[in-house]
Amino acid sequence: MEPLADEIRICRKCGLWRQRKNAVHGEGNLDAAVMLIGEAPGYWEDVKGRPFVGAAGKILDEMLLRAGISRNDVYITNVVKCRPPENRDPLPSEIETCTPYLDHQIKIVKPKFIVTLGRHAASYILAKASIETKGITKIHGRIYEADLLGFEVFIVPMYHPAAALYNAKYRDELDEDFQLLKLELERLG
Ligand code: URA
Ligand code: SF4
Repeated sequence: MEPLADEIRICRKCGLWRQRKNAVHGEGNLDAAVMLIGEAPGYWEDVKGRPFVGAAGKILDEMLLRAGISRNDVYITNVVKCRPPENRDPLPSEIETCTPYLDHQIKIVKPKFIVTLGRHAASYILAKASIETKGITKIHGRIYEADLLGFEVFIVPMYHPAAALYNAKYRDELDEDFQLLKLELERLG
């Protein structure tokens, strides 16, 4: 993973490199059973070069804690590795240019579970696994068994933790989905 991280740190393949302070390659356990994939770095992630260390990260930490999952046991990364200006959505072209890095990371970690956080991660991963979807509100709370990049994986689409910041309904649903993940982890040992 380290050579890949080095490559990402100096990458200039799409225009997002121009305004970044730090590319955020990802972090965590390389043997993780669970890989969490967010959308893109935000302000603090860009400053610190680490994923989910701002307000959304705080929510994520709480969810993991309640599900009894340690941040040290998971791998966390994003669909695109550099912060889009003003936290705008990543463009399709930026996603297309950056995701070979994500694919490579998935192949290195080979997780049992891929948790997608938000619609960008969900649509990228589910399309890659040839699963048709009808939007994140319909697909969260379910687990999709799939063949992804040549191996078996369970895909668990969830809302983005930032959505839970100001909306208790999303917070509850996100919590429920992490509890579902917890049960599934226990079931599969
Ligand atoms: N939001 C994301 O999608 N990813 C991060 O790393 C932080 C906030
Ligand atoms: Fe490279 Fe991805 Fe950053 Fe674009 S977002 S410069 S492709 S690392």
